[in-house]
Amino acid sequence: MSEKRLRQPIVAVLGHVDHGKTTLLDRIRGTTVAMKEPGKITQHVGASLVPTEVIEKVTEPLKKLIPTVKLELPGLLFIDTPGHSIFSNLRKRGGAVADLAILVVDVMEGFQPQTIEAVEILKQRKVPFIVAANKIDKIPGWKSIENVPFLVSVRHQDKSVVEYLDNRIYEIMGSLAELGFDSDRFDRVKDYTRQLAIVPVSAKTGEGIPELLALLAGLAQRYMKGRLKYVEGPAKGVVMEVKEEPGYGTTLDTIIYDGIIRQGDVIVVGSLEGPIVTKVRALLLPEPLQEIRATKKFRVVDEVSAAAGVKIVAPNLENAVAGAPVFVVSDESQLEKVKEEVMKE
Ligand code: GTP
Ligand code: MG
Repeated sequence: MSEKRLRQPIVAVLGHVDHGKTTLLDRIRGTTVAMKEPGKITQHVGASLVPTEVIEKVTEPLKKLIPTVKLELPGLLFIDTPGHSIFSNLRKRGGAVADLAILVVDVMEGFQPQTIEAVEILKQRKVPFIVAANKIDKIPGWKSIENVPFLVSVRHQDKSVVEYLDNRIYEIMGSLAELGFDSDRFDRVKDYTRQLAIVPVSAKTGEGIPELLALLAGLAQRYMKGRLKYVEGPAKGVVMEVKEEPGYGTTLDTIIYDGIIRQGDVIVVGSLEGPIVTKVRALLLPEPLQEIRATKKFRVVDEVSAAAGVKIVAPNLENAVAGAPVFVVSDESQLEKVKEEVMKE
């Protein structure tokens, strides 16, 4: 048996279509490339693992501005989700496996239908979250400074511009209040256990990213410490996408939220026609720092442990559906039990 290892909290990035979820994650990755530490972030299928040392480095400039907490966790696994209305199932799944979340709201557009849907998923699942009020660079008259904390950037703005931003934020606070949440701009929050923090950011310029990561680390520390999660036993995961890959056939892009999955493992996958029992032929991860969609280049790994995003290659996956559970069967005697569990999900 493997020794107990703490796993990274899974952070789902949710929000309305085009509000900047993917750009925000790209920015977080890009920031570390700019810090000349590219290899530090491991690319997963549909996810990015940001280790604690990187978070500490990005939040370093804040030490003089706000109290920051030390993250006693191995890092954060960010999962991207699509904002389009047809992907409701995926958002629900993303929300379900998430330990924490970032709700991305275009500061100019405010709450939109899928923003509300996302909040309702998080509320129902009791997932703690922070709000990224994105695209502040689009505020009329905003003068952007690349990669600085919001608290630094805001000092360089005209009074009327800051007022404009605050009015946009009041609007977001109003929308959140209608859904039952008390919130405020993060630097005005008096009690983080009762109020949601709204962080003004720009995924385009990097402004506010230090605060966003610092507050996430704080949230992770506060909520995860009491219920530390370990990587244990056979893997449990969820299908995010079913994809044809040249040379591999039908594959599953999955998020593994517990345990370990190995090449050769027997897995049970949910489908509309009943559970699929198959064997893992290969586990694929993207090549470091290459975009999975753009390059289609993978490397084969023997095993992956939670939390992780991995592509599973196996026979008979044609009927698998996004949102279905994927469980590893530890030994044959467990097969019927796992099949039942999968169908219950
Ligand atoms: P879906 O995955 O389709 O739900 O969209 P998304 O939320 O991932 O949005 P995406 O990151 O693809 O961004 C949508 C558009 O907004 C792109 O053209 C981005 O370049 C732009 N964008 C994202 N963030 C910012 C920002 O902070 N400022 C500006 N000016 N544009 C942004
Ligand atoms: Mg996107």
